[in-house]
Amino acid sequence: MAAPATPSNLRIDAGRLWSSILETARIGATAKGGINRLTLTDLDRQVRDWFVAACRAAGCTVTIDALGNIFARRPGRDNALPPIAMGSHLDTQPTGGKFDGVIGVLAGLEVLRTLNDSGIETQAPIEVINWTNEEGSRFAPAMLASGVFAGVFTPDYAYTRQDRDGVSFAEALDGIGYRGEAPCGGRKLGAFFELHIEQGPILEAEAKTIGVVSGVQAMRWYELTLTGADSHAGTTPMRLRRDALLAAASVIQAVNALALAHAPDAVGTVGLIEARPNSRNVVPGEVFLTIDLRHPDDAVVAAMEHQLGIALDAIAAEAGIGASLDRNWDSPAVPFDPDCIAAVERAAAAQGLPARRITSGAGHDAAYIARVAPTAMIFVPCDGGVSHNELENASAEHVAAGANVLLQAVLETDARLYGS
Ligand code: GLV
Ligand code: MN
Ligand code: MN
Repeated sequence: MAAPATPSNLRIDAGRLWSSILETARIGATAKGGINRLTLTDLDRQVRDWFVAACRAAGCTVTIDALGNIFARRPGRDNALPPIAMGSHLDTQPTGGKFDGVIGVLAGLEVLRTLNDSGIETQAPIEVINWTNEEGSRFAPAMLASGVFAGVFTPDYAYTRQDRDGVSFAEALDGIGYRGEAPCGGRKLGAFFELHIEQGPILEAEAKTIGVVSGVQAMRWYELTLTGADSHAGTTPMRLRRDALLAAASVIQAVNALALAHAPDAVGTVGLIEARPNSRNVVPGEVFLTIDLRHPDDAVVAAMEHQLGIALDAIAAEAGIGASLDRNWDSPAVPFDPDCIAAVERAAAAQGLPARRITSGAGHDAAYIARVAPTAMIFVPCDGGVSHNELENASAEHVAAGANVLLQAVLETDARLYGS
């Protein structure tokens, strides 16, 4: 006869978790095996509906807040206690993979299902959360609704963000029927744990199954408009042109050089560019582009911003064009909670999983939740470190290992905070 489940030998159902990942991956599936499920689109509604139904079927109470964040709650012995929460995001990049964000939500659901199966009662309620608009691909900045929950942004700031077609976050949220009644934030979480793929190459290269995430690096986003003059491609002599796209090429080079100047840890990216009027026989008079700068140290990101300003002034003067730079996001470096980090580390050790500490290069909802609750993250490897790519892949074994660490970290934290 199998030994009865106790909190410390309890394990998730790896097959059931993998099936949930594959089932939801059909919503927005792309030909190359990824997912295109931009936030607050009808596909996002479909996966939210799936998640809400699955949580209700698992006996949870589901609450939706004013930003569309979804909270599924499994009661504990004392429901007045701040819940231990898990979660991540179900939205994806336009060429996203099946794992970024998704596993953090579905592993949370799997933890709740596992607790149900074993009949284990926790002291505090346990919640799994789907945060709205983590990716920042449709509505900048990233981690927008977890940011509102943490008091970093006001609800109005979030509601008025617009996508590139001029649709506001509020319109899109109402459009899919996910503006809930509950206020966003203003309530305590006992702790928050987020499972995620690493999205980088370190764990795989070192044959580690678990990344014990100690914090998230600093990141800043900018929007730049370059203004020259539209002119005829056939008749305007090269010396008389004010070509905004040519200047943009110099900006892209400058951003790359800036990151290389702060090697090995700095990164810099121009990921979105729009040339106007975008007609083959018009010298482009205006360009809109985005810049993403990151480094583990806030001071280095600040220095990079200063140097970016100098480079832009020089490029604009040389090209005879205007340059208007707007910083639209500043997310400082975040250290996670030592007790939550230790809980993740102990859970990995107890299960004999090779682990190492790691800093996150990507942004995560946990970075904002860390401001209002003790927080940590668990990373699992992904093939070749590839992410924000339809080919993103992680093994069922590693995802299950991460979910088991999540389960044990949650149970240990419930016992540590509230007694068993
Ligand atoms: C979120 O995916 C980010 O790191 O940009
Ligand atoms: Mn993510
Ligand atoms: Mn992402």
